[in-house]
Amino acid sequence: MKGIILVDKHDVQVRDIPDAEIVESTDILLRTTSTCICGTDLHFYDGRMPYNGHLIGHEPMGVVEEVGSAVHSLRKGDRIVVPTHICCGFCQNCWQGLSGACLTTHPGAAGAAYGYPHQGGYAGAQAELVRIPFADANAIKLPGEPGDEREHDFAMLADIFPTGYHATELAQVGGGDSVAIFGAGGVGLLAAHSAFLRGASSVYVVDCIPERLAKAAEFGATPIDYRAADPVEQIMELRKKSRMDSAYRDEHVMDGVTCGIDAVGFQARSREDYHRDDPNWIISSLARLVNPTGHIGIIGVFPLKDPDGPDPNERVGELTVPWASFFNKGISIGFGRDQDKRYDIILRELIVSGRATPGRIVSHRLPLSEAPGAFRLFNAREEGYIKVVLDPTH
Ligand SMILES: NC(=O)c1ccc[n+]([C@@H]2O[C@H](COP(=O)([O-])OP(=O)(O)OC[C@H]3O[C@@H](n4cnc5c(N)ncnc54)[C@H](O)[C@@H]3O)[C@@H](O)[C@H]2O)c1
Ligand SMILES: [Zn+2]
Ligand SMILES: [Zn+2]
Repeated sequence: MKGIILVDKHDVQVRDIPDAEIVESTDILLRTTSTCICGTDLHFYDGRMPYNGHLIGHEPMGVVEEVGSAVHSLRKGDRIVVPTHICCGFCQNCWQGLSGACLTTHPGAAGAAYGYPHQGGYAGAQAELVRIPFADANAIKLPGEPGDEREHDFAMLADIFPTGYHATELAQVGGGDSVAIFGAGGVGLLAAHSAFLRGASSVYVVDCIPERLAKAAEFGATPIDYRAADPVEQIMELRKKSRMDSAYRDEHVMDGVTCGIDAVGFQARSREDYHRDDPNWIISSLARLVNPTGHIGIIGVFPLKDPDGPDPNERVGELTVPWASFFNKGISIGFGRDQDKRYDIILRELIVSGRATPGRIVSHRLPLSEAPGAFRLFNAREEGYIKVVLDPTH
């Protein structure tokens, strides 16, 4: 079969590799019809997370090709999407829907995933065939036919949509909230979409890439270009203008937002120079911007170590954060991996009913053979690359 191998930093290649196979009776084999490139893949591609010449990718959807003898709920030909985080379905965390922290699929740690060498060693999903362990617990059945009008909406269920939704859960977004999201990649855009689905009144999305900011506006959010001026001041200025003063009597005015989301992570760019990292800047901005008693969700990735990081503390995973501001404002902060199992069925139903349209973030659908160029342009955030779906059937 064909698969995408991360051979070295900035070098992905389409290779002929042995076909994926059923190993356990609880497995299925998936024949992919769509498999996406994610911002997380770029951390490996940039050499900032450990890689070992592995098959990359963790966002597959397609049809069931072969079924292990102990699998009960799936048949050959079923259309499915498969969440990034591999779960068993029977451990203590899986029972609570915390599938991103499954206790059995990565022995000795909590949480396994496709295409991450340090999360259980499972083969990646940017390939024609993918082995899906514990298939009854991991495959989400989908209506319709491969390649129909919902192919991209459903493909977003593998990772990026539940991750955006999880960000709004971590930031406790609810009815009437005002939400600031840093990062207009797939995760930030679908956090904006999710915030509106959960009843937010205003959503501000901060980035500097014009096409991504335009996409945020398409979802109803207010785009904030951080190159124009300090985004905290820009958002506070807009909030002042929209405030109904008479409603406030003598209350202390809160010019910020009730909820903040970091959808960028450790490779956050410096405001002055897009080619330089500044991993502290977003958390400091959120500390200024989020109102007292507000909530923050950190969904962008922070690896345990980043030997090539610009900040000596961050290199050993100890970022400097404005702890005292958070304490004095009484702000809560949530972190971590998406818990696919808690959201995937809800989000599938929102797609089926037409309320959610996450596939709108897809900017490119390309044959698997074009992965090397797609990685290069997506990593450079050039030529309108926002979200790439690879098509292994062409
Ligand atoms: N927690 C999880 O389960 C989970 C799952 C998927 C992805 N992620 C992480 O979420 C993050 C975003 O993923 P993505 O696919 O959207 O990535 P992406 O690379 O497509 O998007 C990141 C965006 O952030 C912008 N950006 C960079 N520095 C910025 C700054 N200082 N301020 C504002 N915007 C800035 C970039 O211009 C880019 O548009 C990544 O760190 C990824 O690893 C986490
Ligand atoms: Zn992903
Ligand atoms: Zn489990």
